[in-house]
Amino acid sequence: MMRPLCLWTVAMLAASATAFIPHTAFRPSSPVATRRCSRAVSRGTGVSMMSGRRPFIAGNWKENPDTLEAAIDLAKVVSTASSSASNVDVAVVVPFPFLVPVKETLKGSNVLIGAQDLYTEDKGAYTGATSLPMIKSVGAQWVLCGHSERRALFGDTDETVNAKLKKVLAAGLKAILCIGETKDEYELGVNKLICGLQLAKGLKGVTKEQMENVAIAYEPVWAIGTGLTATPEIAQDVHSNIRAILGEAYGQAVADKVVIQYGGSVTPETVDELMAMPDIDGALVGGASLVGEKFARIINFK
Ligand code: 13P
Repeated sequence: MMRPLCLWTVAMLAASATAFIPHTAFRPSSPVATRRCSRAVSRGTGVSMMSGRRPFIAGNWKENPDTLEAAIDLAKVVSTASSSASNVDVAVVVPFPFLVPVKETLKGSNVLIGAQDLYTEDKGAYTGATSLPMIKSVGAQWVLCGHSERRALFGDTDETVNAKLKKVLAAGLKAILCIGETKDEYELGVNKLICGLQLAKGLKGVTKEQMENVAIAYEPVWAIGTGLTATPEIAQDVHSNIRAILGEAYGQAVADKVVIQYGGSVTPETVDELMAMPDIDGALVGGASLVGEKFARIINFK
């Protein structure tokens, strides 16, 4: 009895969220059949011949490493490794205190830098907060919005995630919107509905033009830090559904340009198969991004 009710409820919620995104009647669509072909990346240009999307791999350092010295050492390895990974955009998303020194260390490389969160007020009596103007002023190009750890541990909701995302975009920076279902939701079979809902609420009020500065990271919570990676087929199924939803919201031309990263226990052993999927355009890497050689292999995926 519960299963149809849950599915129905979530479906209704997802459907009602569709009005938040401008330009279209946004409806979670049925999943697009998984295409079992390669993404056909031309390693000469780094751009998929099928999609025109350039792969984007980012290392999310989370609350690591524990010293500035270790952060600089890691950044040096990433900087060196990036020289052989010319066909992919690479970023490191680091703790606030490391933004400036890591950026300095990466000077001369192509590695971009990002922050892991922001507070929506620009300045004031908000002890412990870091504002978007601060993040922008130290030269960060990317900001994560809605990572599941921020949602689960620090109280981020779809509404605050949406406010943060719009703040980032209004300032001309780029945002990675993180979405993903929990293990319970996966087991109930509502992963695509949950992702559709988080997508609709996270992108409320975001325009077609602003989508140029948005990447989506599909990070199933059950795969984060657990060693359980979604199979390439599971991830592809969700990614193609995300793209179909974006297509309904913004038009296929816009949806086809949006980079959708996969995150959740990505390793040197799993990256090649994941990246071979047509709608997996990159990775958001946690644990393996803290080990220089592993991240080097991941950004040099085959
Ligand atoms: P892991 O790669 O450690 O599973 O973390 C994924 C993640 O949360 C990236 O944002």
